[in-house]
Amino acid sequence: MAKLRWGIIGTGRIAKIFADGILRSQTGELVAVGSRSKAKARDFARANNIAQAHASYEALLADPTVEAVYIATPHPQHHEWVLRAAEAKKHILCEKPVGVHYDEAAAMMQAAWENSVFFMEAYMYRCHPQIARMIELIRAGTIGEVRVIKASFGFAVPYDPENRLFNRELGGGGILDIGGYCTSMARLIAGVAVGKPFAEAERLSVFGQIGAESEVDEYAAAMLVFPNDIVAMISCGLRLQQENHVRIEGSGGAITLLDPWVPNVNGGETSLILERNGEAVETLTVTSPPLYAIEADLVAHHIAKGDRQAASPAMSWADSLGNIRLQDEWRRAMDAPGPFTQARPVAPTPYQE
Ligand SMILES: NC(=O)c1ccc[n+]([C@@H]2O[C@H](COP(=O)([O-])OP(=O)(O)OC[C@H]3O[C@@H](n4cnc5c(N)ncnc54)[C@H](OP(=O)(O)O)[C@@H]3O)[C@@H](O)[C@H]2O)c1
Repeated sequence: MAKLRWGIIGTGRIAKIFADGILRSQTGELVAVGSRSKAKARDFARANNIAQAHASYEALLADPTVEAVYIATPHPQHHEWVLRAAEAKKHILCEKPVGVHYDEAAAMMQAAWENSVFFMEAYMYRCHPQIARMIELIRAGTIGEVRVIKASFGFAVPYDPENRLFNRELGGGGILDIGGYCTSMARLIAGVAVGKPFAEAERLSVFGQIGAESEVDEYAAAMLVFPNDIVAMISCGLRLQQENHVRIEGSGGAITLLDPWVPNVNGGETSLILERNGEAVETLTVTSPPLYAIEADLVAHHIAKGDRQAASPAMSWADSLGNIRLQDEWRRAMDAPGPFTQARPVAPTPYQE
């Protein structure tokens, strides 16, 4: 298989990490980077051995050597650059959250559909083999009927108004940045438990705090009720270190993912703990290549097959739409600052639910 030629939009923290992932992938070649600054593009290209450094995102999209783009800007810029990348006929891996609300996400998928390009939201944790293992265990009834899901993602970042996490203009707040991991995990597990790729919550109660200075959601929790009365308790936070585990409790036992969100960035082993009622606790080990290399390879395989979207457990379009809608509802119920999805109906398309 010929290597997939990637271009990266943006030169921030995750751009560097994903560049390493492409370099360590089986299928990818990093041929170009685009930045709003000529100097940043040049420095990033030098540091990562990239042939082309473009002084604008437009120039990167006009580069005929680029087949797929990885969009690594802050959240509010995802929408514009996904639309422009689709129009330029580039395949797209867009960082999470897909957009800042549902309508943006739906427009992105419409653009990918109309331009016949691949599009995926980059929840890389879904590509890791421990997720496939977790799904297998649930499907096999290893822990009986799933009843309660617990998931947290939070880290202690010092308050800094310049940091995009605390900056409203840059889509700040925990729910959009890391809460979406917890919503997507709960939706995945609840779906698998009822024989589907994902499920939508039927009820939502929310709690948390909007920072007085930052005016963004700094910590937040939600209780969700899914079909079959499956309850999920999720939380996220920007100024507190959380447990950062996922635990699935069923009628016959429990599964705990000790490192659910960013496992094995450099490749290696991660563990799931399996408890079965009345039996000794087991530690199940999963070995994997570097996390972001797995993600780059998954995208390349789909593109090689002519797919427009990924299959579960990676993020399909309908899964991303359901997830951003839930993040929208969580933020709205918290009175977090907008923007939110507008009331206007989104035209139904063949890929939507
Ligand atoms: N999946 C993951 O593991 C993961 C981890 C971290 C972050 N993320 C996601 O990736 C995205 C970027 O996060 P990050 O932590 O890498 O952010 P970051 O370090 O702040 O970098 C963002 C980059 O976007 C570009 N950019 C474009 N418009 C901008 C604007 N108005 N203000 C600031 N920068 C702008 C900049 O590159 P140029 O100046 O070169 O144009 C900047 O370096 C976010 O959506 C985040 O949710 C994902």
